[in-house]
Amino acid sequence: MNKPADVAASNRPLSNTKPVKPCAYEEADLGFRNHWYPAMLSSHIRETEFKTLTILGEDILFKRVDGIVYAVHDECAHRGFQFSAKPESHTKNTVTCYFHGFTYNIKNGELIGVPSDPSSKLVGKVKLHSYPIQEAKGLIFIFIGDIEPPPLSDDVPPAFLDDTMHIVPFHQEDVHANWRVAADSASEFNHVFMHKDDLLIKYWKQPLPLVEMPKGDNPYEGYVPLEGPGPKGFKDVFREVIPVFEYQFECEGEKGVIRSAFDPKEHQGTMNLGVMEGILVLPCGLRIGPWGANPGEMGGDYYHYEWYVPIDETHHRYIIAWGKYVANAAEALKVEHDVRTRWSYLEYEGFNKSDVLANEGTQRAYSAPGYAFGEKENLSRIDGYCLMWRRMAAKHNRGRQVRYGGKK
Ligand code: FES
Ligand code: FE
Repeated sequence: MNKPADVAASNRPLSNTKPVKPCAYEEADLGFRNHWYPAMLSSHIRETEFKTLTILGEDILFKRVDGIVYAVHDECAHRGFQFSAKPESHTKNTVTCYFHGFTYNIKNGELIGVPSDPSSKLVGKVKLHSYPIQEAKGLIFIFIGDIEPPPLSDDVPPAFLDDTMHIVPFHQEDVHANWRVAADSASEFNHVFMHKDDLLIKYWKQPLPLVEMPKGDNPYEGYVPLEGPGPKGFKDVFREVIPVFEYQFECEGEKGVIRSAFDPKEHQGTMNLGVMEGILVLPCGLRIGPWGANPGEMGGDYYHYEWYVPIDETHHRYIIAWGKYVANAAEALKVEHDVRTRWSYLEYEGFNKSDVLANEGTQRAYSAPGYAFGEKENLSRIDGYCLMWRRMAAKHNRGRQVRYGGKK
């Protein structure tokens, strides 16, 4: 079971029928309600198998039946037994509660029978919350909310669902950090400082700058809002900055120097900086690409997708997939092989693992009382990425997620 130890006891679905109203970013500790989220990799749930996950503070039971994944609230409506504590099933379409045997249709959550009271009036009346699910590109997406779900394409980064985009999801991990800590620096360029010694950069022989200085004083400059039809968020085209490859400093008479792994004078820049874009969209998905070195064998024509799915107030689920445009099945197979045997390792172990370390290392400060977003941080003109994201997220989210019984 995939559940952090400090999750609160009552992770129930909400039933909020109030009109959708965007909430402040600072209030979104459990994420934004009424959005689609990737729950897990498709390969993580096989035919007849039960899986439980906590998403946005709700405990959810998944089952795959005849290839299709269904999801209901992971709590019996009789007296609250958590099905996943001992999942029981006697037909493919049902879940039976281990405690007193109440049996439910997994496809819609309806109570279909009570062993000790076959004529119970509860049958046909009582219903577990049933979640809309869509499986696409090797991921299981779930809609957490109360409204009629919008198209999935409104809640995923651009081109993810394109027919010719072959996607290979390859990583899923629960990270001990609130989802906003990760989203705030998704592809923010100054955090490349911590990537300076990463294996992927060395593999590419990449003269990645240590940091980048903004050219102007307006922190929002250079970021393009995405507010039309489709996903909402913003785009960063990585151009209007001054790259810094060497940083010298002095303290108490001692000189120090920090350098990028490769000298740009000796190594011609190979990164696709001229065409690379970072796109961060609601509720929590990033696309970056074309990613990395020049197109071809070095992986530079791939698109990197990732999500920071809220689990609870102090954890998020980090999901990574790579995608590439392909013309036919043979090309798709090659991409599949290339990502699984090379890039999944280099990208996660040699790069994104550093992001996990940074996010987990930052969590303590953000969970401390009084350190609410924007209160004790010292943001400046270098933090335009984070400021832009917070602005767009606050404007376009479809509502606040609160715990069952919590104040809206
Ligand atoms: Fe599930 Fe009683 S708690 S049947
Ligand atoms: Fe990073």
